[in-house]
Amino acid sequence: MDGTFNENDISDVIASDKAHVWHHLIQHKQFETNDPRIILEGKGMRVWDQNGKEYLDAVSGGVWTVNVGYGRESIAKAVYDQLMKLCYFSQSAGSVPGSRFAQKLIEKMPGMSRVYYTNSGSEANEKVFKMVRQLSHKNHGGRKYKILYRDRDYHGGTIGTMSAGGQDERVMQYEPLAPGFVRVPHCMHYRAHEQGLEGLSIEEYGVRAADAIEQVILREGADTIGLLCLEPVTAGGGVITPPPGYWPRVQEICTKYDILLHIDEVVCGVGRTGTWFGYQNYGVKPDFVTMAKGVASGYAAIALCVTTEAVFDMFKDDASDPLGYFRDISTFGGCTAGPAAALENMAIIEDENLLDNCTEMGARMMGNLEALMEKHKIIGDVRGKGLFLGAELVTDRSSKEPVSEAQMAQVAADCSAQGVIIGMSNRSVPGLNNVLCFSPALIAKADDIDQITDAVDGALGRVFG
Ligand SMILES: Cc1ncc(COP(=O)(O)O)c(C=O)c1O
Repeated sequence: MDGTFNENDISDVIASDKAHVWHHLIQHKQFETNDPRIILEGKGMRVWDQNGKEYLDAVSGGVWTVNVGYGRESIAKAVYDQLMKLCYFSQSAGSVPGSRFAQKLIEKMPGMSRVYYTNSGSEANEKVFKMVRQLSHKNHGGRKYKILYRDRDYHGGTIGTMSAGGQDERVMQYEPLAPGFVRVPHCMHYRAHEQGLEGLSIEEYGVRAADAIEQVILREGADTIGLLCLEPVTAGGGVITPPPGYWPRVQEICTKYDILLHIDEVVCGVGRTGTWFGYQNYGVKPDFVTMAKGVASGYAAIALCVTTEAVFDMFKDDASDPLGYFRDISTFGGCTAGPAAALENMAIIEDENLLDNCTEMGARMMGNLEALMEKHKIIGDVRGKGLFLGAELVTDRSSKEPVSEAQMAQVAADCSAQGVIIGMSNRSVPGLNNVLCFSPALIAKADDIDQITDAVDGALGRVFG
């Protein structure tokens, strides 16, 4: 650290944090006796807390965000220069970075063409839901309004996105939710037995898991369903990679029943899985793509809802209809810092070949996790794509009984004591919050990857013996 903070500053910061800040997803009783962690500084893949302790950050800022690492001067400078030129104007007008980033982004997304700027992943997803509801009114007499979402997927913390929430613990006590959202089954081969589909090869399972979506469509009536919303790789719901055969069948089903396909790339978007977007690993052609976290690696808040020209056209085909266009506003979608940071973030990924590095380091980490699985019986499954990986912990490999959340927390705390911050599924799927999550920055080197898995090795040995 550069010594900017002295002890008194820090005790003031901690005192006001404890007195006034409400942290996300945390029970605060503990802060009556303990101090919250305050992160003071970050450089590359490492951060420092209030005690000067250094950590290797294996979760890119806690929630899969800081993809190009901390302390990037070129992004800070691009944001500074842009803010001095023009900080903001509402999206009724265009901006230089907004226009340039849209162009650059669309070059990476063949088949997509229009970018709508917003300020959070939840908000970007809400825009899709609104568009679909409006299209239902415009084209189907209001009937094709239902939105399908998948068990174990997550799309945000607003009432609308929680209504599309496949993680029951995130939703409990916040009901009533919005009507018109319908759940389809998950596609997790490791837990196929929950669906009565045990014993199938992973390829057979992939097709059957997609067929299960069709069954829901037939039950509800295809003419009532406007959208299928899916994560390309489920993130907080347990790092679930889609089985082979799943996505082609999903695409076929959407086409057959005239259902628009929305891929929520809030986590996978902009490099996390070794391709620009997660769906590009599976040859899918979406109608909507949303993204947020990695778009500007957290250097500025930015999120986007991207559509095809065909979707866009449906909102401008009748200029005489006063209600016929997308009547939406996102105040902070007009902040110019976001696209300025996003442009530089993308340039860094290209200049430093970070997609290739992500694939290479992801393969190394997967190899390391597989070796840990040989050694520790507590690991029931390892999954992932690129630098987006998970290890599911079970007390018994045949029954797949999950370890307790308390034990998961002990593993994470042990890694933290060793100076490595890892993640874990948390208050997500009731009774199944048993997946360790890893998403180091795309700049990770072999030594960093080994340091992460060595820490997990030590922690599993100490917690489970
Ligand atoms: C897949 C996915 N979609 C949407 C969101 C919501 O994004 P935000 O927290 O920016 O609203 C998240 C957040 O973790 C996410 O993981």
